[in-house]
Amino acid sequence: MHTMILARLSFALTFFSTATWAYHWPEPKFDAIEALLYEQSPEPHGVSLTAILNKCVPGPTGEHTAAEWVRFAYHDMATHNAEAGTGGLDASLYYELDRQENVGLGMRVTSFDFVDFPGKYVSRSDIIAIGTVVAVAECGGPTIPLRMGRVDALVAGPAGVPEPQQDLASHTASFRRQGFTQSEMIGLVACGHTFGGVRTPDFPDIVPATADGSQLVVTFDSTPKFDNAIVTEYLAGTTKNPLVVHPNRTVTSDLRIFSSDNNVTMKSISSPQAYSKRCGDLLARMLDSVPKGVQLSEVIKPLPVKLATKNPERKVTMFWENRSGGKCAHNACSAPVVSTNDTTTTLFQRAGMSPQKYRFNTPINVTTSVSKFWFEVDENDGKKPQIYNNGGTGYEIQQDRVLFVPELSTNAFNNNFTVVVAVGFRAVLVFSKIL
Ligand code: HEM
Ligand SMILES: *[C@@H]1O[C@H](CO)[C@@H](O)[C@H](O)[C@H]1NC(C)=O
Ligand SMILES: *[C@@H]1O[C@H](CO)[C@@H](O)[C@H](O)[C@H]1NC(C)=O
Ligand SMILES: *[C@@H]1O[C@H](CO)[C@@H](O)[C@H](O)[C@H]1NC(C)=O
Ligand SMILES: *[C@@H]1O[C@H](CO)[C@@H](O)[C@H](O)[C@H]1NC(C)=O
Ligand SMILES: *[C@@H]1O[C@H](CO)[C@@H](O)[C@H](O)[C@H]1NC(C)=O
Ligand SMILES: *[C@@H]1O[C@H](CO)[C@@H](O)[C@H](O)[C@H]1NC(C)=O
Repeated sequence: MHTMILARLSFALTFFSTATWAYHWPEPKFDAIEALLYEQSPEPHGVSLTAILNKCVPGPTGEHTAAEWVRFAYHDMATHNAEAGTGGLDASLYYELDRQENVGLGMRVTSFDFVDFPGKYVSRSDIIAIGTVVAVAECGGPTIPLRMGRVDALVAGPAGVPEPQQDLASHTASFRRQGFTQSEMIGLVACGHTFGGVRTPDFPDIVPATADGSQLVVTFDSTPKFDNAIVTEYLAGTTKNPLVVHPNRTVTSDLRIFSSDNNVTMKSISSPQAYSKRCGDLLARMLDSVPKGVQLSEVIKPLPVKLATKNPERKVTMFWENRSGGKCAHNACSAPVVSTNDTTTTLFQRAGMSPQKYRFNTPINVTTSVSKFWFEVDENDGKKPQIYNNGGTGYEIQQDRVLFVPELSTNAFNNNFTVVVAVGFRAVLVFSKIL
């Protein structure tokens, strides 16, 4: 019988001269979040966050997934009390969706969009944060630096998300509680209201149905992208933002907020560069508003071992030692590693990388087994092949441990779970359970 080792490895050559922390495989938490953010790996049913975002194109009834995700993140954070250190981005919103202040189908759709992404290593609140980072990037906005380590609330928190009919003093006080000055409030609203809009079913008084009963989404600006049009159209007086132009002055909260410092802030972010920079900073602070005691990581950068460019001539070979650390005769313990056809993601491109991913799927002799493996990379450019060995130690396999093998496991939609685990890489057990 052969034992199969299935795993996945991506590597890189570049950057990390300034890294304060050296990556040493295995780092499952880091790997999980890096894969979600940069590689855009799919959740268990095969869909990536990017795929759900549909290139920032709104759906047939005007629903805009990226906008829904950013509103979701803001509403989760908006009950933060910066001084007391309570609330913030903690996924408490999942328990607060029946509140009027969180009205809307968009909220429910988002909670379903995210349902399969959190796991052993990534919290629901980290997924909310990643959702905003990916949504803003896919729509052409800034690259928001992401930290990880948010902790999920298990109950609802206090209410307090701003609503359009509230007055300016309430909004200013609310944002101050959240940890934002008046000018930062103006900026954050202008950054959030760059995409999406107000919907009839959620706010029928602000966006009434048409005479024939059609329901509408009236967008905040004329573009679905993450751009400064929300600001320039406001300053030019051409905006159709319902929270600015609605004849009922009670509900024009964006107008009250945007003009509350005589348009000084809005003018300061009217250029694309200034808008992008300010929004990147403010949204990063929104995502990093977490309860006291939660320790966020360093900013997540691409994995420190990656082949940052593609080279069709490159040959990658995997080597391993047997269970007792012996080399196999005649290179018997080696196998070619094949590249996959992944498409480069937006965040990799922005990091200046177009990495190539390699997968291995190698039969290992059960008797001799494996204790560590490493890779040799031959670029076929006349230079000596490079060795990737996890900083000298090799990629070590802990013996006699039960390892879950997600690539071989399935969850058929009929609740027939097939779980594949490898035990110390001496046997692979496959069992199915119908729940
Ligand atoms: C005083 C503060 C705010 C008020 C009163 C407010 C009000 C609203 C209202 C009434 C809607 C329409 C929702 C619907 O029809 O379902 C909306 C949508 C939205 N808001 Fe805000 N908002 C505020 C601040 C923010 C902030 C700070 C952000 C993010 C940084 C944000 C992001 C969004 C987004 C992205 C949408 C579009 C959602 C979609 O199209 O599904 N809002 N907001
Ligand atoms: C304006 O909007 C507020 C809040 O929705 C509502 O209570 C009020 O009746 C509206 N006024 C008019 C004149 O429609
Ligand atoms: C702010 O800009 C808007 C849109 O151009 C304008 O209608 C308004 O009068 C300005 N407010 C102030 C105080 O300058
Ligand atoms: C591993 O390889 C070494 C050297 O070839 C050999 O002496 C040893 O018996 C092997 N161990 C196993 C478990 O196959
Ligand atoms: C990768 O792309 C090539 C060329 O388009 C195709 O022949 C091959 O089957 C693809 N491989 C995979 C694993 O999808
Ligand atoms: C596995 O290795 C053992 C010890 O070297 C050898 O006797 C056996 O034939 C090998 N099995 C296979 C299937 O190659
Ligand atoms: C459950 O899934 C396993 C693996 O795909 C399959 O072998 C088995 O027949 C399935 N059982 C049922 C009852 O569907």
